[in-house]
Amino acid sequence: MIIDRFGRQFQNLRVSLTAACNYACTYCVPDGKKLQPATAELDGEHLLYAVRLLIDGAGIEKLRITGGEPMLSPKFEPFLRGVCELDLHDVAITTNGQFLPKYMPLLRDVKFKRLNVSLDTLDASHFRSIARSGDLAIVLQGIEMACEAGMKVKVNMVPLKTANFDQVVPLLDYCLDRGIELRFIELMNMGHLKLNDQYEKDFVSLDMLLDAIRSKYEVVPITAEHDSTSIRYEVVGRGTFGVIANESEPFCRSCSRLRLSSNGHLYGCLSNTKHYDLRPLLSMPYPLALNELQGVLSSAMGDKQSIAFTGETTVMKFIGG
Ligand code: 5AD
Repeated sequence: MIIDRFGRQFQNLRVSLTAACNYACTYCVPDGKKLQPATAELDGEHLLYAVRLLIDGAGIEKLRITGGEPMLSPKFEPFLRGVCELDLHDVAITTNGQFLPKYMPLLRDVKFKRLNVSLDTLDASHFRSIARSGDLAIVLQGIEMACEAGMKVKVNMVPLKTANFDQVVPLLDYCLDRGIELRFIELMNMGHLKLNDQYEKDFVSLDMLLDAIRSKYEVVPITAEHDSTSIRYEVVGRGTFGVIANESEPFCRSCSRLRLSSNGHLYGCLSNTKHYDLRPLLSMPYPLALNELQGVLSSAMGDKQSIAFTGETTVMKFIGG
């Protein structure tokens, strides 16, 4: 296993099934940019082979299936079924929820337990102006169905000063009422946001967020799991929420994440465009590929930031949120 000077190990693998997305969220996709068809993606079998190699070679214990929008990919069902048969401690999916009702029978069938649904507002017209596609009612229906099926659902919201800051409390109420943990994700300075002043205009800090919530609720900090990226709080008597405060409280020092993009590139850090093409390894027999992987992993570990996220022009949809 690769362990660096800060004691960091790769334990969490995020696999982007496809770079394609049916949304074009303002903070992820630049204005006027057409949705690109997914190109040069690995097929499901090669992707599964890569996952097996990474479990054994890097010591991966947790896997998250992400995108783009993973449920948009025809690989979603076979990949999910394949991954559920592997020896993993935890498997989760991050989705925008548009295909949740459609895939609920599959999720029930594989006894799926953990789902993160991205949802930035409960207002249908704001929803369209942020996601620039999709239907809020379908997302809400999907969340209800997942809760009814007994899944542990989290909702991810990226608060933006100019677009949905007024939704912080309504979304929190919605989640608290349903026993869902809401996770506020501080806007990360990446992709086209780095190219103009939109990031500064939209960034909501941890303090600003907590002030908004404290205008209605009593909020106390609670302890989070050891390698958790979120800072957790309790709304006294009502439930909990988390904040992924990339900027206000960076967690690079304990980052255990490794990312595999849909075209087979391995990334050690979200803040670094450096990547390693795994495709040549995927045509090698298992022991040889595993051996070759060690060098790749130690380079990828070296790409991690030591203190804080500094930003990149890569967009989340290519390397997986
Ligand atoms: N900053 C923070 N979160 C982002 N996401 C996409 N781009 C950004 C960004 N610049 C989030 C999505 C989704 C998750 C997969 O990544 O909102 O919740």
